[in-house]
Amino acid sequence: MIDQAAGLRAQMRGRGGPKFLTIASGKGGVGKTNISANLGISLAQRGFRVCLFDADLGLPNLDLVLGVSPSYTVGEALAGEIALREALVEGPAGLGILAGGRDVNLAHLPQSQVEQLAGELVELALGYDLFIVDCGAGLGPAVRAFAEAADWLLLVTTPDPASLTDGYGLLKYLCQEEIEAKVGLVVNMSRSLGEGRDVAQRLQLAAERFLSREVQLWGQVPYDEELVRMGRKQEPVVLGATRSPSARSIQRLAETLERKMGTHLQPSTGKLRGLWDRFLGLNFGLGR
Ligand SMILES: Nc1ncnc2c1ncn2[C@@H]1O[C@H](COP(=O)(O)OP(=O)(O)OP(=O)(O)O)[C@@H](O)[C@H]1O
Ligand SMILES: [Mg+2]
Repeated sequence: MIDQAAGLRAQMRGRGGPKFLTIASGKGGVGKTNISANLGISLAQRGFRVCLFDADLGLPNLDLVLGVSPSYTVGEALAGEIALREALVEGPAGLGILAGGRDVNLAHLPQSQVEQLAGELVELALGYDLFIVDCGAGLGPAVRAFAEAADWLLLVTTPDPASLTDGYGLLKYLCQEEIEAKVGLVVNMSRSLGEGRDVAQRLQLAAERFLSREVQLWGQVPYDEELVRMGRKQEPVVLGATRSPSARSIQRLAETLERKMGTHLQPSTGKLRGLWDRFLGLNFGLGR
């Protein structure tokens, strides 16, 4: 697909190209998927063409959090059973959703299939302003591939020391891989603004001192029973509980990102082909 993708990527650059926001964490269960879903909806409501990509191909659940039931997932597309576009479903506010497949094993995918799919992803990406990639937790190779392709890496942590330590560990690993993405931080489930700020400051100081990497605090999302309650109904808070503390915080996060979308000048889509090739070369079942 090298030729096909090269042409498509050139078109993308001409049009500004979609931006990639990769959402990752050191420890699991810190709120990545809920933040991805609600942030994606908030940005779509603001008029951005957003596609959410569930890159957790071990235990994906973005579709559940969004309350959609796709007939197909990225898993079937990777297996060559469907075209990638067929896995795309439309969610709230016109949001595009690519649900993840379970325990996807890509080890024996033929090169022709890889090329076909790489072209399909590039083509699909052309229709969007922003790809939000919801990763599985930890240091998997998929996270690395998507962090490398990202314009922004959004690291999610909670105030829990283990989450903070693992978050720093992930960042250290990615910095060693020399990722170019700008790094944003969201402290989720904090009990007070002060607690969230302290946590952020610790990570920011360590990243600056030991990794020479600037980490910007993009926002805080408080611990919110309303999010838990809505979660049981599979309804994102920015739709079903718009005045809840978590919904308001995520809407503010969307405003922050909207400003960045406006000022971000360097499209990163030139990295797309490499990303997709590597994405397809991974066994996500083992990558976690
Ligand atoms: N701000 C919040 N307040 C209260 N509960 C929250 C908040 N954010 C997330 N949760 C809860 O934490 C749990 C984990 O959330 P989520 O699935 O979004 O995390 P994750 O980081 O994507 O997990 P994984 O690493 O397994 O992919 C869910 O039960 C969710 O309801
Ligand atoms: Mg998740």
